[in-house]
Amino acid sequence: MLSGKHIIVGITGGIAAYKTATLVRLLIKAGAEVQVIMTPNAREFITPVTLSTLSGKPVISEFFTANTGQWNSHVDLGLWADAMVVAPATASTIAKMATGVADNMLVTTYLSAKAPVFVAPAMDLDMMRHHSTVHNLELLRSYGNHIIEPATGELASHLMGKGRMEEPENILKVLQAFFDKKQDLESRHIVITAGPTVERLDPVRFISNFSSGKMGFALAEECASRGAKVTLVSGPVSLKVNNPSISRIDVESASQMHDAVMDVCGDADVAIMCAAVADYRPKSVASRKIKREHDDIPVIELEKNPDIAKAVGQLKRRGQLLVGFALETDNEQSNALEKIKKKNLDMIVLNSLRDKNAGFQVDTNKVTIMRRDGSSKAYACKPKREVAADIVDEIVELLKKD
Ligand code: C5P
Repeated sequence: MLSGKHIIVGITGGIAAYKTATLVRLLIKAGAEVQVIMTPNAREFITPVTLSTLSGKPVISEFFTANTGQWNSHVDLGLWADAMVVAPATASTIAKMATGVADNMLVTTYLSAKAPVFVAPAMDLDMMRHHSTVHNLELLRSYGNHIIEPATGELASHLMGKGRMEEPENILKVLQAFFDKKQDLESRHIVITAGPTVERLDPVRFISNFSSGKMGFALAEECASRGAKVTLVSGPVSLKVNNPSISRIDVESASQMHDAVMDVCGDADVAIMCAAVADYRPKSVASRKIKREHDDIPVIELEKNPDIAKAVGQLKRRGQLLVGFALETDNEQSNALEKIKKKNLDMIVLNSLRDKNAGFQVDTNKVTIMRRDGSSKAYACKPKREVAADIVDEIVELLKKD
């Protein structure tokens, strides 16, 4: 919980700054220690006296305290913090944070902070949807920062749209949920495969499938947020990872994925085989583009790819867990059980192609999780991140039994 946590509240120059007084009060009531940092513009919207009274600490806004000449160390502050919340975050501060323009105490402290950073944007709707703001927020996300999306409603300009800073009570809830989050995978190493594999036919053509990688990436984010060190071996996808605890290895073909997994799975506590691996690859890869020859239809000879899950299953040590996925069209349960045995899995996640919101490309999934003893649990259709949390909950349960 928030009791005893050191929270930096960064306030920038937006009209929503007055609401941050309530956030500071709520944090103090929840038992946190709060250090407020204001940008020079923020002081035009709310006085430092209000905030220092509520937080019980002098507000910092300059590199030096004017009357004493004392230097305010952004490095010490960055190390002191358990979390930093920038609320409201203006388009200008978001841009500075995204590009490292450290011309005030708030951004310098942000750059020094080791703790998780939460950003609550507040601005007019057109600024909010401008390409540069969208891009800068995307950059902040890619650094692992947490964006607390603004709400839609009446804005300071009296226009209606997205850009209202999230209410202080809800920002508090986000922070509480973060600190409540289970760290039940702390010090565990988890290897995850994701996405499709691409098997080349010639320099321009290949055999592949529709896997987007979304489920595997959601699993990687979930495991990392619960304290694990994750190695994500991914086929070609257009997704990014947002957590520094995830090391990503990009591969193209099944045999490259096999070699990468073999390299990293020795010390893994859990391996989750989520990739849609092509079963076959062309026996030979033409060095030049295969030409259309008059009436002849070329025959492509295929050969078997390595079964990565099976190979990991064969090397599995006591205490290691192996989780597979299956996408079946018929006899789902009996085929899944068969696969558990054949590949020496501990658990299989079954998604059925019969569900229109489950499986490839979509953002939701509906799974049944089956264990080695044949027991199974069917889950409702949910966003893939929530499905990932259900899968990880079951993994943690199995790890405890071992
Ligand atoms: O045999 P099937 O392809 O249905 O098995 C699916 C499971 O096995 C998935 O977990 C998938 O990631 C894994 N697999 C693999 N290597 C293959 C084929 C499947 O790791 N060549």
